[in-house]
Amino acid sequence: MYLRGSGRRVSVGLRTLCAAALVVVLAVSCAATRRPESAPAASASDASSPGVPARSPALAEASCPADSLRSLATARRFDIGIGGLIQSNRYMVRDSMASQTLRCAATVITNNGFYWSAVEPRQGSFSFAQADEISAWAQANGVAQRGHVLVWHNSLPAWLEHGSFTGDELRSILKTHIQAIVSRYRGKIRAWDVVNEAVDDRGNLRDTLWLRALGSDFIELSFRWAHEADPDALLFYNDYRNEGAGVVPERIYSLVRDLKARAVPIHGVGLQMHLIGGRETMYATNRPAALAEMAANLKRLGDLGLQVHVTEMDVSLVKLTEVDKLAQQAAIYGDIARTCVAAPRCTALVTWGLDDAHSWITGRYAGSDTDAPLLYDRGLRPKPAHDAIRAVLALR
Ligand code: XIL
Repeated sequence: MYLRGSGRRVSVGLRTLCAAALVVVLAVSCAATRRPESAPAASASDASSPGVPARSPALAEASCPADSLRSLATARRFDIGIGGLIQSNRYMVRDSMASQTLRCAATVITNNGFYWSAVEPRQGSFSFAQADEISAWAQANGVAQRGHVLVWHNSLPAWLEHGSFTGDELRSILKTHIQAIVSRYRGKIRAWDVVNEAVDDRGNLRDTLWLRALGSDFIELSFRWAHEADPDALLFYNDYRNEGAGVVPERIYSLVRDLKARAVPIHGVGLQMHLIGGRETMYATNRPAALAEMAANLKRLGDLGLQVHVTEMDVSLVKLTEVDKLAQQAAIYGDIARTCVAAPRCTALVTWGLDDAHSWITGRYAGSDTDAPLLYDRGLRPKPAHDAIRAVLALR
């Protein structure tokens, strides 16, 4: 699990050494060295083998084919991942075939069991059942975790969205929420999406509860509170339509540059990259230009000392232009993976879901029931898009 730190590498050499020197004793000691585990150990059960003791990370990795996404990404110290595991998507950690597919498709998963409505359904009363189930699976399978999300304008519970709180009260609610979660998962969640989608489509700060209550300070405060709760976690600003050029990436660039200039603890920018059909169709109609814009943005964000993660990628078939849409989709995935891998500080690529039967975009627009935006088909078979990413990861 790499999720490279700002200026720090997370025990990569040590990990390699551990894998080579094998197996149980060393794997256990290496895991302990990599990250202090203050919280109780993960559930000892493997989702595919109830009751069987958890395998060590080294063994879990060794069980994946050498040409799996996980093995290839591990070999090049890049993170490949799957996100969006909560609610009905917990089949990924419950069903044995899905679980095995996930295990070998990912060095990192995004645990999105932290939507406010799920995690704090009543003020001050936290519910971590979903997040814990996903986290236990990740730990048992030696897969790193990104945590999603601490501050967002969506998925708020009614008590918060329709409550009548003063600015000071909301400030205290936000701080309590962030610190309760981040401190509980300290040592388990390697990277957090701290603030999500704070910039609107015009490049202004989005009109949200948080902006109205705290002004633009809510962003800086959120990063500082999260950092206090886990000084080792990597902290990300995450958004959509922000990977290339235009008013949104411009605004986000100046936002994070300003945070860095003021020594706010921010370590990266997340590019959601839901390529569904607005400006994103450029990847189908003029891919060289879209990729050049993305590469330039990766470069300037990297030059600020920030990592970049592609955090929620999917490629809808709906606006693709070629007859063989799966081939075109594969080319888009492959080219984006290549662009990320080529940028020294683009360190992870995560898709938002595992297989086409369970994508969040299914049912979101007319005709989307038959869309197929992910790397695995409805029978969990790898698609051309999977093979395109695999080819990029295999390149040296
Ligand atoms: C989606 C989830 O996958 C759904 O389960 C949820 O109901 C709605 O949100 N941007 C984000 C993600 O940051 O949290 C969203 O995930 C997709 C858009």
